[in-house]
Amino acid sequence: MEKEGPSPWSGRFEGGTHPAVLRFTRSIHVDRRLAACDLRGSRAHVRMLAAQGILAPEERDTLLDGLSRIEEEISTGVFPFRDELEDIHMNVEHRLRELVGDVGEKLHSGRSRNDQVAVDVRLFCRDVAAEWRSRLRGVLTAVVGRAEGLTESLFPAWTHMQAAQPVSWAHYLLAFAEMLGRDRARLEDFQRRHSVSPLGAGAVSGSSLDLAPDLTAADLGFDESFANSYDVAGDRDMVIELSQIATQIMLHLSRLAEDFIYLSSTPVGWVELPDELCTGSSMMPQKKNPDLLELTRGKAASVIGHSQALTVLVKGLPTSYHRDLQQDKEHLFAVVDIVTDSLEILGLLFEGFRVREERAAEALRGGFLMATELAEHLVGRGVPFRRAHRLVGELVRFCGEKGIGLEDLTIEELRGRIPECDENVRAVLRPEAALTRRHKGSTGLGPVRDQIARWRLRLAR
Ligand code: ARG
Repeated sequence: MEKEGPSPWSGRFEGGTHPAVLRFTRSIHVDRRLAACDLRGSRAHVRMLAAQGILAPEERDTLLDGLSRIEEEISTGVFPFRDELEDIHMNVEHRLRELVGDVGEKLHSGRSRNDQVAVDVRLFCRDVAAEWRSRLRGVLTAVVGRAEGLTESLFPAWTHMQAAQPVSWAHYLLAFAEMLGRDRARLEDFQRRHSVSPLGAGAVSGSSLDLAPDLTAADLGFDESFANSYDVAGDRDMVIELSQIATQIMLHLSRLAEDFIYLSSTPVGWVELPDELCTGSSMMPQKKNPDLLELTRGKAASVIGHSQALTVLVKGLPTSYHRDLQQDKEHLFAVVDIVTDSLEILGLLFEGFRVREERAAEALRGGFLMATELAEHLVGRGVPFRRAHRLVGELVRFCGEKGIGLEDLTIEELRGRIPECDENVRAVLRPEAALTRRHKGSTGLGPVRDQIARWRLRLAR
């Protein structure tokens, strides 16, 4: 007698699955998040089956109608998710059967859960890439907007965490525009490479039914269908690549967060964070802490870990589908949530931080930030750079001993120690001299305005 259990393979098995195994193998608590993608894939599959004469038009309409009802149930929160049905694919299929009757059993013709989950994940990753690109665009717009207002305001840039040279805040912010711009380009490239539909690959070798993978590919908005079923059945390159792009994004955001923690720290304080982005202390009434930036740094560690887990998951896995791959989703989803949230937070930071000009200006004085400028002034007067470096180094030591800055020297003192200095030398020692740099990519006012114009153009596209 034909028997029916909850699982589609009940024909092959004597009894049911052990409850512990069911608990261990199920993924519905994770992959229910793929429901919308799963329904999109199933609709395209149904339309293709009908176009190929594998389903009658009425069967197609009944199935599409059932799938729409399921979509409605899921969006209104009444869909009966069932653990014993393992995953989202079998939950949907089982419910379809309940809603439309026997014709529901035709949905899975020429399809395996292997190509089904592959298409779901691709659709999901594709949406994520588009979402991140648009969020990055938002952050970039905020960065460029802030840069525009800060082209002449300076602070001491550091290398080795030691004061180095004055730069404009605009120049500093635009460095992040470059980083995030590269991340956007990575996503664009990702979207192009993975615009391939795996639907029709079946379990590993395709199907003996007369499927038309190009139809489902076009229906789902992919550029093309798979070239090789063996490849796509177990291909998770897109998940790994997306997590690696995520890692790169988080590395940028984490370094940025670290900068702003330092910039807003008590001893430095060149930047003030808006209250709405900070939290206080449960004990110390005076505290205003940059927890959101610290958590950005901390969550970057999680993304790196999840990305690592994904690469280890496929390392050593034979070609084609293996159940190990089911584990990819929890890492993928965790990565997606962290990056999406972090991009929102960093957008708020860029919009809301305030430069404390007086404190930054104070930090520009009394040190030796213009020492390089002075050495280069001498180069302009024909002094070989190495000699200029030595002369200025000696001058720095002299000032250090006297407890004064370079800018405190009189022109006579300067020319007394370095006769090659000309009468304009004192202008060179003012931090604002940094704004007179002319070459492309430098912190000079002209070059920074060029950077902003270039970004405006790119963002308008
Ligand atoms: N839940 C599975 C996954 O996420 C679907 C594919 C299962 N395929 C199979 N042959 N058991 O990977």
